[in-house]
Amino acid sequence: MNIKHLLTEKTQAAFVALGLPADTNAAVTVSTKLEFGDYQINGAMAAAKLLKTNPRQLAEQLIQQLDLGDMADKAEIAGPGFINVTLNKSWLAAQLQQASSDSRLGVSQNANPQTVVVDYSAPNLAKEMHVGHLRSTIIGDAVVRTLEFWGDKVIRQNHMGDWGTQFGMLIAHLEDKLAAGIDLEQVALADLEDFYREAKKRFDDEAGFAGKSRDYVVKLQSGDAHCQKLWQLFIDTSIKHSDEVYQKLNVTLTHADIKPESAYNAMLHGIIADLKAQSLAVESEGALVVFLQELADKEGNPSPFIVQKTGGGFLYSTTDLAACQHRSHTLNADRVIIFTDARQGLHFKQVELVARKAGYLRSETAYDHCPFGTMMGEDGKPFKTRTGGTVKLAELLEEAVVRAKAVVQEKATDLTADEIAEVARKVGIGAVKFADLSKNRTSDYIFSWDAMLSFEGATAPYLQYAYTRVRSILRRADVADGYSATLQLVEEQEKQLAVKLLRFEETLQQVMKDAQPNLLCNYLYELASLYMSFYEACPILKDGVEPGVRDSRLMLSIFTSRLLQQGLDLLGIEVMERM
Ligand code: ARG
Repeated sequence: MNIKHLLTEKTQAAFVALGLPADTNAAVTVSTKLEFGDYQINGAMAAAKLLKTNPRQLAEQLIQQLDLGDMADKAEIAGPGFINVTLNKSWLAAQLQQASSDSRLGVSQNANPQTVVVDYSAPNLAKEMHVGHLRSTIIGDAVVRTLEFWGDKVIRQNHMGDWGTQFGMLIAHLEDKLAAGIDLEQVALADLEDFYREAKKRFDDEAGFAGKSRDYVVKLQSGDAHCQKLWQLFIDTSIKHSDEVYQKLNVTLTHADIKPESAYNAMLHGIIADLKAQSLAVESEGALVVFLQELADKEGNPSPFIVQKTGGGFLYSTTDLAACQHRSHTLNADRVIIFTDARQGLHFKQVELVARKAGYLRSETAYDHCPFGTMMGEDGKPFKTRTGGTVKLAELLEEAVVRAKAVVQEKATDLTADEIAEVARKVGIGAVKFADLSKNRTSDYIFSWDAMLSFEGATAPYLQYAYTRVRSILRRADVADGYSATLQLVEEQEKQLAVKLLRFEETLQQVMKDAQPNLLCNYLYELASLYMSFYEACPILKDGVEPGVRDSRLMLSIFTSRLLQQGLDLLGIEVMERM
């Protein structure tokens, strides 16, 4: 069920009757104010320009042609040629009745499933996973869940960084630690950041260590068994770190989704040979470079994209070209979505350009780099520990749960200690996730414990609490899960709530189109708020409420609770029956 889609189709049919092309933009939007009805059709203005006629006149003709059937009470012209549509309550009730009996809550079946490769999380295994990867992980997972719910075939690709030159120094350091009899869990698992720092210090200061490190990189990359073994030990331990974070975060990534940089190793020589054969890559100061005129600077100098270093080493960029080949040709992706911080914008523009020219990306494969902004501390600077170090994600998430517990304890009345612990876990993790997901992806945002754990405003606790309130009403009414009654929409609040409930599919479409889960966050927040106003205006369990009215309102409540749960689940956020 997608009202916007339905109105678009009907408007376009009317356009055709007026002699306009069938794909004329109907520009249907949700009305911003109550007095503008429920939806607006804004396409008459642009269409009038096309026909060189008066927009109001065209809007009038459009209304005459528009066959809305029993869907709407009225369609009126406003301003220079907007058409305000007021939906009919009985029609809405019938739609919602149907959606109620559907396990997909009225979201239609995907008629044209696509294969979508989603590249997200992708920590660098040489170091501790940082907040940038937290954002990628959370946003990517929400988009993945939404695409899967809609019915696309999603292939997760965790493009972990396991192959840079730093690994030479790390395995040389690891070798010495192990030789000194230090247990592996202790060296690397305890603190990757410290381990990295130690190795780096030796690399900079200790005679012979840098040479050995460089030697080990070469050996590692050419398949030396000893180096490979050390590297594998390091990688496995580091993956355990990310596992811990994934598990705490309730994200859907598994080991099967790991397709790290090293997995493309065998393809790189071929890629280079091919780029040379196609005369795309040329030698420049000893390196191999693709010069991109399309991304030239103001002076007209082409943008250089280095694919092989002086001395023969491959780079992040070479691997990404191989990844394009794999995803487009082997996995047959219709769309590739990549979530990284905004600073990698140029890199992915270059990758796409080169990959298209070289034929590694089929023209049928869309390539969407979805950048996100930086997570800032409350001081407005990039989020760091008090001493300026990297914030360990596992610790951040533990802190979230501890803080949530304090908040939950204050509110909880009849929960056992175990229940409080469970609720605190869901609220704490949910709060961190929702705070991130609800912001416009591309802007920087400020990480604030107080804001994200508040029960007011668009937060996870607010939504989780709203959910428990609806559930408690349903418990008091003693209605079973399969409860069914006739829906009727009489009061304005009932109608507003119904329109919102029927906008789920529309919202999901937008989330998927632009990879923007914040739209779903806003939607759920507005839904919860509308439910609260509905509940205040429309009593359900009070004495004197007619049984038919009560049953219909219970139906609205059940649908709201199901939708809140489903919507939060798509964001990877858990709900609870009580808090
Ligand atoms: N490991 C990279 C980072 O930490 C992200 C990888 C993203 N995916 C890719 N295909 N390059 O920034």
